Amino acid sequence: MKKTSIDPRIDKVLFTQEQLEEKIFELSQWVNKTYKNSSNLIIIGLLKGCLPFYAQLIKTIDVDFVSDFMITSSYGGKDKSSGNVKIILDLVNNIEGCDVLIVEDIVDTARTMTKVVSILKSRNPQSLKVLTLLNKPSNRVVEFEPDNYGFLIKKDDFVVGFGFDWDEKMRQLPYIGTIKKTIV
Ligand code: IMP
Ligand code: MG
Repeated sequence: MKKTSIDPRIDKVLFTQEQLEEKIFELSQWVNKTYKNSSNLIIIGLLKGCLPFYAQLIKTIDVDFVSDFMITSSYGGKDKSSGNVKIILDLVNNIEGCDVLIVEDIVDTARTMTKVVSILKSRNPQSLKVLTLLNKPSNRVVEFEPDNYGFLIKKDDFVVGFGFDWDEKMRQLPYIGTIKKTIV
């Protein structure tokens, strides 16, 4: 049964469960097309934000692939986007010679993604692409374009739900929404 009530801390629902499912289905078809000739695909999820997106995406992927995950974290200050990205949990697999697809929740300033891409490229994959559910190009501090994305969001939208957290909470909401200004 689908959950219909909206959390009272939510200001506005930006993407409903149905909209997310429809978009993620489209993205899975892009993965199938992009990697139809690949024999060594590794799909890397960046935990923890990727979880609902990753789980939904792989249900309709019909090419063979290996799942792997990383946890990265910014450090050197309170700001989540301080720019110093550290690996907290590394991959299990060696990606040398593999087709690597990174699955991320959001590319915002792009500090995280540029660091992750440069770390993974140094391990000599055959190819490396980035798929992100949300893209906030107006907030970049470094130039970066994902290979594909689900939805664009505005600079001022701080989102929660469907993997996105506020202080590590609210990731379980089945939709994505903005949080009330009185909460943050
Ligand atoms: P970056 O600014 O592109 O390096 O993004 C860093 C990380 O901040 C993302 O991977 C998300 O986990 C988190 N983040 C960025 N924007 C939001 C948001 O609107 N809500 C929740 N987390 C966010
Ligand atoms: Mg993230």
